Amino acid sequence: MVRLFRVSSIPLVATMTSALALGCPADPTEPEDGDDDAADGADDDADTGGEDGDSGETGETLDPNAPKFFDDVLPMFIENCSACHIEGGLGPFNLEDYETTKGLAEAIVVSLETRSMPPFNVDNSGECNTYQQARWLDEDQIQLVSDWVDGGMQEGDPNAPLPPRPEFEELAGENVLELSTPEGYLPIADQSGPLDDYQCFLGELNNGDAPIYITGYEVIPGNPAVTHHMVGFLVNLEGDGALGTNGSIMQTLDNASPDQPGWDCFGAAGNGVRVEGTPVTWAPGGGAFNFPEGTGIRIDPGYALVMQTHYNLANGNGEDTTKVRLSIEDEVEREAVNALFDQFLISGLQGGGLEIPPNEESFVYTWDQRIGNFDERIAAWDRVEIFGVLPHMHELGRRMQAQFVSSGEESCGMYVDRWDFEWQQGFMYEEPFVLEPNDSVVVTCEWNSMGKNSPTTPGLGTQQEMCLLGIYAAEAQ
Ligand code: HEC
Repeated sequence: MVRLFRVSSIPLVATMTSALALGCPADPTEPEDGDDDAADGADDDADTGGEDGDSGETGETLDPNAPKFFDDVLPMFIENCSACHIEGGLGPFNLEDYETTKGLAEAIVVSLETRSMPPFNVDNSGECNTYQQARWLDEDQIQLVSDWVDGGMQEGDPNAPLPPRPEFEELAGENVLELSTPEGYLPIADQSGPLDDYQCFLGELNNGDAPIYITGYEVIPGNPAVTHHMVGFLVNLEGDGALGTNGSIMQTLDNASPDQPGWDCFGAAGNGVRVEGTPVTWAPGGGAFNFPEGTGIRIDPGYALVMQTHYNLANGNGEDTTKVRLSIEDEVEREAVNALFDQFLISGLQGGGLEIPPNEESFVYTWDQRIGNFDERIAAWDRVEIFGVLPHMHELGRRMQAQFVSSGEESCGMYVDRWDFEWQQGFMYEEPFVLEPNDSVVVTCEWNSMGKNSPTTPGLGTQQEMCLLGIYAAEAQ
């Protein structure tokens, strides 16, 4: 093997601390800390204003200059929250309703300050890159909501003109291949949680004997109240999985629940199925995603797209039929490669004895790898343009970082400050990196195993863990 893994909770804590010293926001598990930054400013202003601070309760005159719901807050919500928090949406309440929002004001402020909302796993502050279609608020948008709360949550003018709804990117390309989950699939909670259903469906690509290229995709949920997110895994049907071919394993999994189409799949495309990429990753609120002009991800004959659909029943139920529309080309100027690597998982499969001990608040593991080792096609390129990344851990995951190392210089490739398993997706940079195949990436994962009473092993299962980084890359021009 190229490199021995290193694992120890002590020396690596130091690595992690320096690696994570990105001026990272307050620990999301302690919302009180959020008070240190933006909110304090708001509180101070209100307090020094004397009367203002109390006006909400005493009925004294409200500060006419404080933000108003309809005039100031609602436009920001329409832009950033309404993709989910509207009637019939995935989010648990309608934030376009004044009374609802007023009643939830404190929870909203906390969720914004800790950045648990809007959901977006990677740091988009600019300290470690910015991403396309980022669900990420500027500091002044967070401040606006705090100021509105401090200013007495004034209603403002219900007839204030509404801003236009955000326009979503459209799918580029002429040839669209439409896949669909089974007509009227009824999500039923599975072992992944009392309100969650991770169900996989086979998307046949039927591309005969020639490769095709995916140049973009779009996901259209049939029932937005339950369709939480989707990951499309590339699977070689004839390729070897854990026991037999991937195709036969998936067939067996599917047969195990004759009354339901598809099969349960929490970690990836199902237990024992070997996946080779995630060309499609979707969560509500973005629109279509087009890969960089002239690039496309190659799909060889015999491969299928397994649609792992995460349904959440917290706020709705009923049938769903979700469409996945792929932009397809027969050839592209530059082949894009979506390659996944996880040294933690590999060492587990090789019987390395690696495991996460129970009851550790912070257990850190680091691996590094040459970019060229992610895929032999990448190894053959002169220069590699990395246009996106995909972090992946399971439910013990807390933080994750990728550092690119080129000629001894490190640059921050990706930073996840508060991992949320529920919001898996790939993230495309606004400014891609250009590296060489011999440059490397250092990946650090941090897990919290408090409450576990036995060690956690690497693996694809629900009770196992991963430390995977996916990259989307093409040969640099
Ligand atoms: C992509 C969908 C989506 C977007 C966009 C979104 N939310 Fe949420 N929100 C959810 C879901 C789903 C939940 C339920 C809990 C969960 O699944 O995390 C939630 C829960 C919440 C909660 C409950 C407390 C919590 O943190 O779980 C608050 C408050 C909240 N959202 C506020 C907002 C605000 C304010 C915005 C916009 C600035 C926003 N959300 C944008 C999907 C979204």
